[in-house]
Amino acid sequence: MTSKGKTNVLLLGNGGREHAIAWKLAQSPHLDKLLIAPGNAGTAEVGTNVQISLEDPIKLLEYAQRQAIGLTVVGPEAPLALGVVNIFREAGLPIFGPTREAAMLETSKAYAKEVMVASGVPTANYQVFTEYETAEDAISNWDFPLVIKVDGLAAGKGVIICENNEETLATLKEIFIDNKFGGAGQKVLIEEFLIGQEISAFSFVDGENVSPIIGATDYKRAYDGDKGPNTGGMGSYSPPKIWNKDIENTIKKNVFEPVIGYMRSIGNPYTGVLYAGLIVTSDGIKVLEFNCRFGDPETQVLLPRMETDLLSVMQHVAMSGISGVDIKWDPRPCVGLVVASDGYPASYNVGKKIKGLDQTDTLVNIFHAGTSLLGDETLTSGGRVLAVTAMSDSFENARELIYKNVEQIDFEGMIYRKDIGSGL
Ligand code: AMP
Ligand code: GLY
Repeated sequence: MTSKGKTNVLLLGNGGREHAIAWKLAQSPHLDKLLIAPGNAGTAEVGTNVQISLEDPIKLLEYAQRQAIGLTVVGPEAPLALGVVNIFREAGLPIFGPTREAAMLETSKAYAKEVMVASGVPTANYQVFTEYETAEDAISNWDFPLVIKVDGLAAGKGVIICENNEETLATLKEIFIDNKFGGAGQKVLIEEFLIGQEISAFSFVDGENVSPIIGATDYKRAYDGDKGPNTGGMGSYSPPKIWNKDIENTIKKNVFEPVIGYMRSIGNPYTGVLYAGLIVTSDGIKVLEFNCRFGDPETQVLLPRMETDLLSVMQHVAMSGISGVDIKWDPRPCVGLVVASDGYPASYNVGKKIKGLDQTDTLVNIFHAGTSLLGDETLTSGGRVLAVTAMSDSFENARELIYKNVEQIDFEGMIYRKDIGSGL
């Protein structure tokens, strides 16, 4: 806390998720200074970007101490895996996010499975392997398609769906023999392929208490009609198509509470936001994966719906607990369209001038992802560049608003899907 009773916040990250978090934090009456490391052109509009590497948690700690930071918020998973939360906590600085050990729910898929099995959370059947030969021998136990997952963090590329024996062998060879994923591929899971609608479910967790669950859905494939390669997400909407109080409570009771209770019982309590990637199968809701952070681009459609002060919720999570904290959400739907650089998710050009950002109307929020500032120009600096989001009284109206406004924006090589938010 600063002398005025307000809090200085340090936010880690530079994606669309972090711009949405920064935008929401900036609305807090309890905020003093908002600093973002390293941030993007969008976060610079609502706070001050600082150039410190996310790979250097000690430097981040020293900076936070010098700046009298009252709360640090971790956006992406990489700093969690480096133990930034452990380091800040040891120094007595409040931080929103799980410890390195609790973040293993995301950083080790084998660990996440062990926790799910031990806590009775429904998930796909699986086997874990540490060498090529035993994995090869086991293929005959599985039906096709099957799913191969590398254990560690793999920048969204560590899940491979194999249709037949040849593809499975080639994938196992790439992982175990060619070492394509380095350390992340030392362990491999073979998993049952599940079919159903996917939902991203989120909850604020203080180590013990689980807030009511909020849901969103993202579009993973690059092209219209859910075709093309997997991406980080080409659009999103909230609430999901299949969503009501019953589903929300079922997810809380069958997924979040058992996992959080188990983590606490083994002395590895989880704090921060927990993201469960779910699939609604004919056999009930199952967990595909856990992430230890907000989703991207889900956050860009969730936070516009959040009515409660985000800073205050995050402070409760990090410091005093969320029991008794009421988190309110606007019932209106929100849709987000990701604008990307041609070529994404493979190679693409950067450094293109983005025009028309000031031409969009106030009914849409533009969250920056891969953008940077050069003087007073905003340039592209990544594959996913912006998310154009709108909340309205219907999905159709929100969709109309985003597609009308995206036409004001232009940069060389700009691409986006045309079917985001349709048919909902
Ligand atoms: P992940 O990297 O774990 O988020 O997985 C990426 C995507 O792979 C998920 O969002 C699903 O679309 C797909 N996926 C993962 N596991 C399975 C599974 N067991 N069955 C079907 N699809 C899966
Ligand atoms: N949208 C998927 C993720 O954030 O992992």
